[in-house]
Amino acid sequence: MKMFSANIEDLRTLYVTNLQKALDMEQKITDALPKMIEKSTDPQLAKAFSDHLQQTEGHVEKVDGLIRNATGDSDTETCKAIGGLITEAEDSIKDAKDESVRDITLIAAGQQVEHHEIAVYGTLRNWANLLGLANDAQVLESILNEEKAADKLLSSISDGVNMQAAA
Ligand SMILES: [Fe+2]
Repeated sequence: MKMFSANIEDLRTLYVTNLQKALDMEQKITDALPKMIEKSTDPQLAKAFSDHLQQTEGHVEKVDGLIRNATGDSDTETCKAIGGLITEAEDSIKDAKDESVRDITLIAAGQQVEHHEIAVYGTLRNWANLLGLANDAQVLESILNEEKAADKLLSSISDGVNMQAAA
């Protein structure tokens, strides 16, 4: 795809705005994960969430660094999608009284968030490449890989937890 300078300027604005939304998203996930750890019964699940909390704190730093590079300032833009996903997760966790059912609800909520993050970072990485920002693309790719690994781990934990919930 050939990009003209006006398109590049538009894409650059869109890229920075979406980085700012990603920062808001990561900050909200940082706030939500401690509650998810607390609600988890399965020790493997609690550990997966707490390991991912550490990674998420790293994502906040990395995305913040990219925004500072681009604008000289640290700024966020509200990510409405993550707000909706977190509210929905809180509602279904409240409804699940049984421990193993609550665990599978937490896994489902965690995977919905991961899938959203995978879409966000896949897009941002591609846009960074289009803009010729090789370093940004590399940072975004490293975050993307951690989100994918977190999603995969939740899938493997869910195999065991689902069996308990159905027993
Ligand atoms: Fe993340």
